[in-house]
Amino acid sequence: MSTVPGDDVAGAAAVTQPPGTMLTVRDLSVEYAMEGGTVLAVDKVSFDLAPGEFLGIVGESGCGKSTLLFAIAQLLVSPAAITGGSVIFRGQSMVGLTDKQLASVRWKDLSVVMQSAMNALNPVKSIGAQFKDAMRAHGVHSKEQIADRSAEVLTMVGIDPVHLKSYPHQLSGGMRQRSMIAMALLLTPELVIMDEPTSALDVVAQRSLMVQIKELQQQLGFAVIFVTHDMSLVSHFSDHLMVMYAGRVDEFGPTRELFDSPQHPYTVGLMEAFPSIRGPRVPLTGIPGSPPNLASPPPGCRFAPRCPKVMTRCREETPELYHVNGALVRCFLHADGGPGHD
Ligand SMILES: Nc1ncnc2c1ncn2[C@@H]1O[C@H](COP(=O)(O)OP(=O)(O)OP(=O)(O)O)[C@@H](O)[C@H]1O
Ligand code: SF4
Ligand SMILES: [Mg+2]
Repeated sequence: MSTVPGDDVAGAAAVTQPPGTMLTVRDLSVEYAMEGGTVLAVDKVSFDLAPGEFLGIVGESGCGKSTLLFAIAQLLVSPAAITGGSVIFRGQSMVGLTDKQLASVRWKDLSVVMQSAMNALNPVKSIGAQFKDAMRAHGVHSKEQIADRSAEVLTMVGIDPVHLKSYPHQLSGGMRQRSMIAMALLLTPELVIMDEPTSALDVVAQRSLMVQIKELQQQLGFAVIFVTHDMSLVSHFSDHLMVMYAGRVDEFGPTRELFDSPQHPYTVGLMEAFPSIRGPRVPLTGIPGSPPNLASPPPGCRFAPRCPKVMTRCREETPELYHVNGALVRCFLHADGGPGHD
């Protein structure tokens, strides 16, 4: 793991967790140190998460979604490092924890489900053996308890416990993803971080897994941070939605309001790229161009080169996050309402 020690991280000591939140991320920045210079992949991201809340994070490829999740879970490896900001989870600063301290938090309080279970699961161990390892690492040694809990979580995700004996390659892609989610729930964590857990599946399997994740969340009460390219996938499931572009938060607000009335031109473009599953079919207009290279992002608003509403000011100054009807929007079109917190 490669992080700057907690004391050196700007603001780490100063941030206190607002009442009623379980996760507080403040001005979190992550850089990749490359030969040709640094890549600022996450640029001062801030948000709070309440217990049991479902936060969706959307944005195109390369916008920093995975880097943000890895920074929150303290899973970054060199050349990536947290260069500023703080992550407070249940009152404790995560930045700068030792590997031993982190090991006691992971799985038990916070677990992570990766995009590809094939990469995350150990190919030479049965699913049951991997569940056993995770439980034993957290002090559960009773054979009976391990067997009962393993069967219980596998059943919860709709897989027959007979598959505890199966190896990852003996399961379908959907079953592997479900097994990863079952493993993430083994020790009843309060937060499950999911990085595109459904993206390797076909559309029907994606929707059914999504429904199942939501049911489990409501039943067990854990909070979720869920990353996806597909806005429509989270539209019925998340409480809040964060739209990331080029390492920054461009819009953040309650999911319903954000869908009913998107404010940032990038959010509008994303919604046109993914027509609503409820609404009428519309042509996929998408957004012309692609996100900037984060090694040399454009000055001012990073969306300016692609924005249909671009103004002269946008290419010179960086917009802050402005409060707009309960949402935060990083766009000069909303500057008149007064700047929000950034
Ligand atoms: N291993 C790496 N080395 C150098 N730079 C990297 C590395 N991984 C990511 N980056 C940089 O960080 C940026 C953000 O990458 P990240 O993987 O977080 O994006 P993402 O939003 O998760 O994309 P995707 O949707 O494709 O998973 C990339 O645009 C790239 O510039
Ligand atoms: S600040 Fe300007 S370029 Fe950026 S999204 Fe708003 S209008 Fe478009
Ligand atoms: Mg990613």
